[in-house]
Amino acid sequence: MNAQKIRELDAKYVLHTYTRPPFVLERGEGVYLYDTEGKAYLDFVSGIAVNALGYGDPDILDAIGEQTRKLMHVSNLYYTAPQALLAQKLVEKTPFADKVFFCNSGAEAVEAAIKFARKWAKVTHSAEKIEFVAFSGAFHGRTMGALALTPRPHYQDPFRPLMPGVKLAIYNDLSSAADLLDEKTCACIVEPVQGEGGVVPADPEFLQGLRKLCDERGILLIFDEVQCGLGRTGTLWAHEPYGVMPDIMTLAKPLGGGLPMGATLVNQAVAEVISPGDHASTFAANPVICSAALVVLDKISDPAFLEHVRWAGQYLQKGLKELEEKHAHIIQVRGRGLIWALVTDLEDVGPLVEQCAEAGLLTCKAGNPILRLVPPLIVQKEHLDEALNILDGVFAHV
Ligand SMILES: Cc1ncc(COP(=O)(O)O)c(C=O)c1O
Repeated sequence: MNAQKIRELDAKYVLHTYTRPPFVLERGEGVYLYDTEGKAYLDFVSGIAVNALGYGDPDILDAIGEQTRKLMHVSNLYYTAPQALLAQKLVEKTPFADKVFFCNSGAEAVEAAIKFARKWAKVTHSAEKIEFVAFSGAFHGRTMGALALTPRPHYQDPFRPLMPGVKLAIYNDLSSAADLLDEKTCACIVEPVQGEGGVVPADPEFLQGLRKLCDERGILLIFDEVQCGLGRTGTLWAHEPYGVMPDIMTLAKPLGGGLPMGATLVNQAVAEVISPGDHASTFAANPVICSAALVVLDKISDPAFLEHVRWAGQYLQKGLKELEEKHAHIIQVRGRGLIWALVTDLEDVGPLVEQCAEAGLLTCKAGNPILRLVPPLIVQKEHLDEALNILDGVFAHV
């Protein structure tokens, strides 16, 4: 089927919640995607931080193939080995965590965190302790609970009234949080590195201060690592270099190796208040996805792999800084590991995203003036050079 026909079908039958470029993607290999015309795109979007191991990782394919033939899906009413093994591995690699709840997406992982925090507060404190503190610039998802924690008028306004009891502090401003965290707050949710908000790392004093405030005031601290977790910033968990740990952590994006999977990790205090029936999901952690996730987790947590991410991140940062020197429209370069933002003085980087794609590089926005680069974590020097060259050419014509 040609691209025109596919666009027509999409326009007629798919609910219009996305604005898409005209090309139709057909297959992927390594760090490249190919459209129906055979054109190659160097992929610096990675399914928005999903395809950490690129396309066609042979070990993921083998694991999925083998498990698919054996057993694809059973209800969570039953035990399966891949799920138990994945839970063990996640908990063993996450110092604060004692248990994991599996689901199918980032927003669901956040919904689970909301429910677990509410139950914890009700059981251990009082029925009045129901509020959440979230931060400016945050993105936690589009379901009704997660949406209430995602302070963007464009996303929230059509769907008011939202879940009540959410207060908004300013990201990287500890005193604004200190003013809001009180006896009615059950949890404070924060991204150690904001992704959709424009690739903004938390200041160390901010995260450390939040931990202290939450401890002093009997409040749970939730780290949302859906986008920044699992190696993206050069350490397995984005919060690692900060030297503080959460009580709950949400994960998703790269975990399932391209298959849908989310996870909410909790410490013992939270785990203790959760009972059968409190939360559930039909599809969560089916054996096929778990077999893929086991490969992903093994590969990403390998110290040599994380060292590669840090090296590649530094190389990319250096190249992006050179572009910043050269092109007046780039006013800031910021990021960590392999998540980077080119902050511009442009009203909208949409046209830049289009021009990059025309030149064979997929990028995406993180807010109107910000171009985001989120390559597969397996990128090599030649791919980084290729991306930098394309960006150089595109910015030269702005
Ligand atoms: C930090 C963060 N949390 C939650 C979500 C929601 O994830 P999903 O789109 O899988 O529901 C995202 C998605 O971008 C995210 O970046």
